[in-house]
Amino acid sequence: MCGIVGYLGKKEKKEILIEGLRELEYRGYDSAGIAIIKGKKLNNFKAIGKIINLEEKTNDFHSDGFGVSIGHTRWATHGKPTELNAHPHLGKYSFVVHNGIIENYQSLKTELQDDGISFLSQTDTETIVHLFEKNYKDDSFQAFKDTLDRLEGAYATLLITETAPDTIFFAKNGSPMLIGFEGDDVYFASSDTPIIGKAEEVYYLEDGEYGYAKDGIVKLFNKDGEEKRFLKEILVSDKALAQKDGYRFFMEKEIYEQSTVMSDTMMGRIVDNNIYFEELNDGLLDGINSIKICACGTSYHTALASSYLFERISKIRCDIEIASEFRYKEPLLSSDTLFITVSQSGETADTLEALKMAKRAGLKSLSICNVDNSSIVRESDASILTRAGIEKGVASTKAFATQMMVLWMFAIELAQRRNTITKENLQIEIDAMLHTPKALIVKDKLHNKLNRLAKRYLHGHGFFFIGRDIFYPLALEGALKLKEISYLHAEGYPAGEMKHGPIALADSELFTIALMPKTVHYDKIKSNVEELSARDATILAISPEPFELADDFIQTQYDNHPMLEFFEMMVITQLLALEISIRLGNDVDMPRNLAKSVTVE
Ligand code: F6R
Repeated sequence: MCGIVGYLGKKEKKEILIEGLRELEYRGYDSAGIAIIKGKKLNNFKAIGKIINLEEKTNDFHSDGFGVSIGHTRWATHGKPTELNAHPHLGKYSFVVHNGIIENYQSLKTELQDDGISFLSQTDTETIVHLFEKNYKDDSFQAFKDTLDRLEGAYATLLITETAPDTIFFAKNGSPMLIGFEGDDVYFASSDTPIIGKAEEVYYLEDGEYGYAKDGIVKLFNKDGEEKRFLKEILVSDKALAQKDGYRFFMEKEIYEQSTVMSDTMMGRIVDNNIYFEELNDGLLDGINSIKICACGTSYHTALASSYLFERISKIRCDIEIASEFRYKEPLLSSDTLFITVSQSGETADTLEALKMAKRAGLKSLSICNVDNSSIVRESDASILTRAGIEKGVASTKAFATQMMVLWMFAIELAQRRNTITKENLQIEIDAMLHTPKALIVKDKLHNKLNRLAKRYLHGHGFFFIGRDIFYPLALEGALKLKEISYLHAEGYPAGEMKHGPIALADSELFTIALMPKTVHYDKIKSNVEELSARDATILAISPEPFELADDFIQTQYDNHPMLEFFEMMVITQLLALEISIRLGNDVDMPRNLAKSVTVE
């Protein structure tokens, strides 16, 4: 949530910051701002909304020649998305940007106000800059350290000040930040994308680390205040993967990409008709008798779907937890449980904290993640990367698909280990996996049909996506996709539960998207949909079996394996949400109020 960038060097700072912020815009786009100190000159620009607004404001501004600079794109937590609340926040002579939440900001603010300091914004961040200036006597670094000592909560922060105009001060605790190095140039960013192509060497800061960059040199200290020698890593990544390639939106491109990325997900992991993950080494699974999976949002939905597979196929107990709930429920954890986190970004604060809790309780941990070197990956004992490539659309699609594939493969891998799958059934699963890329190909005919159908589904008083078994989490995901980008009310529900209350809502203005796979309890779901149809609900049925009571019907092709049906229906629900959102004129890739990576609690 929120993205920060920083640059120290001679290049045109405005451009570096704005380009960097554009790469981080998925983390929040309520407002953006930059601050540059060059010699004695302080410059600061802010704009509400997307980076383009900031760009327009800075058109006539240039900032080459040595200087220090910081920038921020905001997802509002404290205070409305106004210009006053936009970062960088200015004290009398210093600027700060921050990602995270300062939990004790209210008491700090009161203390500062009692000292006569007035605040311009409603943010927690502004306390940092005033505290720094209050602490400053004649040593800027000492003042920065004294400030950090007072902060509670999560932060990645950069501070620049007239009292040390050639220096950027930085600190990280709980929110991500890395430093890029190229000659005498030093870059800071919340993730590696702003740095790719600019610096080849990076260092990923760890929690509690802080320091300063000056004259191309970075001094780094650990949480005990000891200076730390650190090893830089080579930054390898291909930014070209994140262009729209003629699609209207990244989300659309990412839906179409699912077929090819799925092959990447499987690559090298199906060997001699067995599932093999080289990541599962060093006895990670020895002594494991149950699984607990923690995740948020879309990732929670794949986790929930996988629990059916772990229990049914691998015959291992599997509990699923929403990370934000898990953290405060005082869970009973036992060390024979493998703790799995699922996360696209690897930075979701609740999931990361849940993982730390499980580790403190002595559990072994595995993460299923799309971003290598992310906080969750680095915190886990082992990680399986989903290899979806950079996902730019805020509404997750290919990350969902690849997570599901990894979890399915892992369930089969465990079944192999635990001898709970016959050779014949193993072959059926592997054949289905290898067939998945085909099931994910988007056909023009299907997309056109969904485009036409979308116009019938723009009003009404709500949507129910219903399914049973693994199609229940898929229904949750279908509803989430629609809510996120269309702003229409949608709920995912287990089909068999409708009669326990929600069916009271049924009338012709209630749109029901019924996931009716042939391979999983077809007759049961059919009865559930018939009950809704009898109450006049408008039904869009998705099934390989023709269903005469449907108002609209999409016939699927696969009817021989639940996961192939799952993936085929997944694409249909994604396209439906996309087309409805486009018809409503929404910004599909940057839906209101959302951010791609939720690094606050
Ligand atoms: C929905 C979506 C979110 C994320 C959730 C967790 O389309 O993207 O619900 O799934 O914020 O994020 P990750 O997977 O990065 O931990």
